[in-house]
Amino acid sequence: MPAKWLKDTVFYEIYPQSFKDTNGDGIGDLNGIIEKLDYVKSLGCNALWINPCYDSPFKDAGYDVRDYRKVAPRYGTNEDLYRLFDEAHKKGIRVLLDLVPGHTSEEHPWFRQSQRAEPNAYSNRYIWTSHWWLGCKDMPYIGGESERAATYILNFFKCQPALNYGFLNVEQPWQLPVDHPDAIATREAMKDVMRFWLSHGCDGFRVDMANSLVKYDDANKSATSAIWRNVREMLDAEFPDAALVAEWSAPKQALRAGYDADFCLNNPDTGYATLMRDYEGEGPDNSFFRKDAPARDINRFLRVYLDWYADTKDLGYISLITCNHDTVRPRYGLDYDELKLAYAFLFTMPGVPFLYYGDEIGMRYQQLPSKEGGYFRTGSRTPMQWASSKNLGFSDGDAKNLYLPVDPAADAPTVAAQQADPDSLLSTVRALLKLRHSEEALQADAPFEVVSAEAGEPFVYRRGHLLLAVNPSGEARTVEVPVAGRMPLFSIGAGKITGGNALKLGPQSFVVLK
Ligand code: NOJ
Repeated sequence: MPAKWLKDTVFYEIYPQSFKDTNGDGIGDLNGIIEKLDYVKSLGCNALWINPCYDSPFKDAGYDVRDYRKVAPRYGTNEDLYRLFDEAHKKGIRVLLDLVPGHTSEEHPWFRQSQRAEPNAYSNRYIWTSHWWLGCKDMPYIGGESERAATYILNFFKCQPALNYGFLNVEQPWQLPVDHPDAIATREAMKDVMRFWLSHGCDGFRVDMANSLVKYDDANKSATSAIWRNVREMLDAEFPDAALVAEWSAPKQALRAGYDADFCLNNPDTGYATLMRDYEGEGPDNSFFRKDAPARDINRFLRVYLDWYADTKDLGYISLITCNHDTVRPRYGLDYDELKLAYAFLFTMPGVPFLYYGDEIGMRYQQLPSKEGGYFRTGSRTPMQWASSKNLGFSDGDAKNLYLPVDPAADAPTVAAQQADPDSLLSTVRALLKLRHSEEALQADAPFEVVSAEAGEPFVYRRGHLLLAVNPSGEARTVEVPVAGRMPLFSIGAGKITGGNALKLGPQSFVVLK
């Protein structure tokens, strides 16, 4: 069963580099997050996911961990992070850290030991093939970089050697079975990392590439899932309130492996791109929420989502996201009015939603050169825009030293400007999250049912006793649904109950009827 507190949780994802700089060095820090906890709370978010903030050479923005137990000096100290947990808890905010179990940095001491010619306790901590010419099926590998006469497998970038959790079917002399003591030692080491942060007050983890532990021959991810179930047993015994959110995007597997929630990510299989925008901008933009979408169809998303939902609703949650640090921002494809409708949908669906910092004000995706392994993702990682002051309120430092430049546009959205406007995207997000917290029927585990989902038409759905409808089109639409006896509870734009059997939805509108 998922952690109870998730039922009424809305996460706020913070990319720590870019949230709030309090010491003027141009990079965000933990004190900056502490300073802005009241802001997070004012949004209606009651939990954080912080991207990796551990010691790292930052060749992949911190997903290349050099020391799992040490806060990166650029963000502060371990004591700052413990204080962040405390301060957040005082305000009713939980904190998930990012666990990176599939690989370390090539500068991690485990890997340095593993590279040595003489056998040692870490020789098998990573996947080494015994021949210099031999890779591992389609896994990328590196050779020629160590005194050990072998090549090693990568999990992602060149800087990220894959940790060794063993192989399901051992075919080569260099492969360890999953129950080999050295494969088990990797799992146990990761459990110790989790214990370390949980015992200092963190509330759980978003788990990076959670499906990546056992390589290529792990049919249906059975061996990887077994490792996570073992981890879950430890959590149940030692930290029963801890939550695990998977980066897996296959909730049927992830939730059975002991995860509380799994992300629905923006890849071509999930149909998610058809909600917020097309994947990497390919092809005509048919996001369901585009006013002028030439082929609007919620079924492109529902086809995958409903199958997942039916299979997993009793096990845990699916997490819908506004976007994340790996995707383009939704503002790239949607204007403010379209974003309001997209968020209205997202924050009234089942599961545990995630809001990426800055999406609440519609921060733009920027075209920027790659920073810290960001590639196209860099454009979604720019500094938070707090006010129209210096560096848009992100930092007092010199503009040329900022981690990334702030949005240069004269009309760059800011929190200060939108705060003052009851019609702004920010005010709409606040109103939506307030509604979600006040209506149990809108929370993670309340029932969900599709009422009407015809191509080109509004989407009508039920959450418990509430009836919801969204019409992204620029034209009014009437949907034949029984609405007799219902009253409007919340709306964006205009919706009108006509007779007992029809709902007239104004252009670009959203309504909740009770
Ligand atoms: C997924 C993370 O979200 C991404 O930012 C990172 O580059 C890769 N995993 C590798 O850790």
